[in-house]
Amino acid sequence: MRDANPQTIYLKDYTVPEYLIHSVGLNFALDDENTRVSSRLTLSRNPASQSKDTTLTLSGENMKLIRINLDDGTNPSGADLHLPEGLWAGQPRVNDLSKDQYLQTQDALIINQVPQQQRFVLTIENSINPKANTALEGLYLSSGMLCTQCEAEGFRKITYFLDRPDVMTLFTTTLVGDKDRYPVLLSNGNKVAQGELPDNRHWVTWEDPFNKPCYLFALVAGQLECVEDRFTTQSGRDIDLQIFVEKHDVDKCDHAMQSLKNAMLWDEQVYGREYDLDLYMIVAVSHFNMGAMENKGLNVFNTKFVLARPDTATDSDYEHIEGVIGHEYFHNWTGNRITCRDWFQLSLKEGFTVFRDQEFTGDRTSKAVKRIEDVNMLRTRQFAEDAGPLAHPIRPDAYIEINNFYTLTVYEKGAEVVRMIHTLVGADGFRKGSDLYFERHDGQAVTCDDFVNAMEAANNIDLSQFRRWYAQAGTPVLTVQQHYDPSAQTLTLTLSQNCPPTPGQALKEPLHIPVTVGLLNKDGSVAPCKLQGCGETSPKAPAVGCCPKTDEVILQLTESEQAFTFENLTEPPVVSILRGFSAPVKLVMERSLDELAFLLSYDSDTFNRWEAGQQLAGQIISGLIADWQNGRDMHVSPIMVAAIQQVLEQPWDDLSYFSLLLSLPSETYLAEQMQVVDVEAIHAAREFVLLTLAEQLEAQFQALYRNNHRDESGQFDSGAIGRRRIKNTCLSYLSKLENKPIYQLSQQQFNQAKNMTDQMAALTVIVNNPHPAKQQCLDSFYHQWQAEALVIDKWFALQASSSMPETFATVQALMQHPAFDLKNPNRVRSLIGAFSQSNPLHFHAANGRGYRFLADQIIALNTLNPQIASRMVGALTSWRRFDEGRQALIKTQLERIMTTEAISKDVYEVASKSLAVEAAGRSPLQNQ
Ligand code: PHE
Ligand code: ZN
Repeated sequence: MRDANPQTIYLKDYTVPEYLIHSVGLNFALDDENTRVSSRLTLSRNPASQSKDTTLTLSGENMKLIRINLDDGTNPSGADLHLPEGLWAGQPRVNDLSKDQYLQTQDALIINQVPQQQRFVLTIENSINPKANTALEGLYLSSGMLCTQCEAEGFRKITYFLDRPDVMTLFTTTLVGDKDRYPVLLSNGNKVAQGELPDNRHWVTWEDPFNKPCYLFALVAGQLECVEDRFTTQSGRDIDLQIFVEKHDVDKCDHAMQSLKNAMLWDEQVYGREYDLDLYMIVAVSHFNMGAMENKGLNVFNTKFVLARPDTATDSDYEHIEGVIGHEYFHNWTGNRITCRDWFQLSLKEGFTVFRDQEFTGDRTSKAVKRIEDVNMLRTRQFAEDAGPLAHPIRPDAYIEINNFYTLTVYEKGAEVVRMIHTLVGADGFRKGSDLYFERHDGQAVTCDDFVNAMEAANNIDLSQFRRWYAQAGTPVLTVQQHYDPSAQTLTLTLSQNCPPTPGQALKEPLHIPVTVGLLNKDGSVAPCKLQGCGETSPKAPAVGCCPKTDEVILQLTESEQAFTFENLTEPPVVSILRGFSAPVKLVMERSLDELAFLLSYDSDTFNRWEAGQQLAGQIISGLIADWQNGRDMHVSPIMVAAIQQVLEQPWDDLSYFSLLLSLPSETYLAEQMQVVDVEAIHAAREFVLLTLAEQLEAQFQALYRNNHRDESGQFDSGAIGRRRIKNTCLSYLSKLENKPIYQLSQQQFNQAKNMTDQMAALTVIVNNPHPAKQQCLDSFYHQWQAEALVIDKWFALQASSSMPETFATVQALMQHPAFDLKNPNRVRSLIGAFSQSNPLHFHAANGRGYRFLADQIIALNTLNPQIASRMVGALTSWRRFDEGRQALIKTQLERIMTTEAISKDVYEVASKSLAVEAAGRSPLQNQ
């Protein structure tokens, strides 16, 4: 093991930093293999620290130390190391520390004695090798350009520093390099000086006027083209906007630029937040572990979330680009101006910023569709995380490797928790709360509690019980029972909550859960929603009045069990509960198929209307799964067919929403609902429903396809996007019929498509059915797009997620394809990630070959890129959900991974926790 005894870091051990860094002057003499760094730190003792220790410990890894110089002012060294001309004189200087004055360990530099009373200047020179850095953390090389990634703890791979987010510093950065090799030299803030040097070198100095933690530092150097635009803020300031890309990508930046302007305007309108520097830069790099990074004034993005042209990117790519550009932009206030005190508070910036980007996308596209997509992802992926051995609260209390905590829980559940506060206090109250939060904490490194405190203070409410959402892991189960009393004309809903144990948390306390409810009459009209005792203030209902509207109420569940009575109901109403998915819980409520079909037709809440259809399909499919498992014939209930037919026959404005109503729950979501996951039964049952619907509603699907098919390219209004979406949903149903005219239809669409959405949709059905022209289409697609890395990623992913029988052999062959590269995370995700996370049928093949294959790749990735390796272990963590045979096979591979030589902390943490005996592996519904 790299680290013989990986250390666990605990939130309860937090103490303030012993030293402060007031300013840092960084000098980089850039070279692909030997970059020299000089860092001039102005430090002093932190008066708030209780520690009596007079040594100074700086973090640093993987670097060669050249020199340390400590100037306490008593013996001025004279030479200014900060000037580029003065760089690397090579001579020892006055005040250089000798070997007995410091200790260099594997991950730290300890200076024996530093001044305790006055400020002092510490200058450190070291060198690093960006080319050898395949972990893509710190300074590394991506397609010929030098770039950095410092969150969470990458800065310590660049130079020695107090690498923790509560140390905020003013940065001045000088980059020196060869003019031809690195014509563009970028860092945070404003460009304040530049010049030429002998030997064809040049230099640029950047100054960031805002204090920031070092995880927000960035530099980029290389041969880049720049696309420029401008934004005028609400106060009339002109901001230069620049997007830097490789030369051949200049024609794919328009959408990203427009998205940035949209985001800037939205944050002014919705949160009153204006951009603070005169320059905003985005750089797109092709090697990146995550989606993008919010470095101050210099965002670094995965190319996937910048580059788009109608013929290379799908509608969903367009939407994600706008969402991620928005996300990183919004971080400027929620993350950068106000940052995290420590990494346990990660959800402070991520949960809030995800909530902000979700609302932004909802406003830009369709609120209904966006909410459904977010909930779908939460319930399929985050719920699984929360029910498995790696379950953790949105504010974790311990970690071995912080990179393992950039999770769906911290991000997506974190956003749900912020959304619940928004629900409880209302839009205006939330704005008051965020205004107060910005006012109180601008320029500080704070905690999740500080955020909740601001929301409480601005709204005069009590969120003390609500705070448990930050500390408790696991998905609560919300059970609803209803009783109608005809004589009293009342309906009583009894709500109870129960959260299953998670690792380290056997017992759970009741949470404060907002449950939005509406009632419907038998004819589909709105029934009055008058709660008994409404208007009386109860200490248990801390939020605003319980009935702001009469057609909907927000119930505040705070006890384990609580009853709510509605009055003035002349007939028993149909209950629409947890509207808008008002809390991240599993809802248990007995519903007949007829009741679900009714809600699918009449619920005025767009989320619950869709949800009724999902539950209807889910019930039907689970019945078929049992039939398949017991060797019985399968039959789809006519209620299901009639419900879909009903949807098909209604007129719809929002065609994207219409397509969602026609879509069945995914195999992964269905697996989540099963006691013991049976991937084959799920696949067979779901396919059977698709086929039955295609057979019985073929004429409707055909007509819809034809009516919405256009020769469009480059149109991205909601109408055009909706037409493509509904058309391709129909194509996917029709393709189940597996007949010649349908094969021709998909091939024709593939050949004639003028945009990537239509081309990909056609290729997807071709690859997932026994289409005779499959190989030919795949080959021509590759040929057409081999110069576009992001499109080739799609080509890999599509084949890796195919349900056709030859998929495993294809995946093995693709590993040898010249375009495959284990060092490029996007490629790894598109082949290995897609196979293991989006192809349950083949990944979980009963003979275990999928597991062995994945373990092989993880072991290879462990040395190259621990973060990506550890992400890939994710597909093995839920092993207790499967039958005994598969459990044994997965466990064997996890154990094999644990024996990897020089195992990284990243992989070690995920694999060992997956195997831990106390791990909770059962879904809460199974415990009933
Ligand atoms: N902070 C980034 C975001 O959410 C994600 C990220 C984390 C990127 C760590 C790189 C490394 O926008
Ligand atoms: Zn983020």
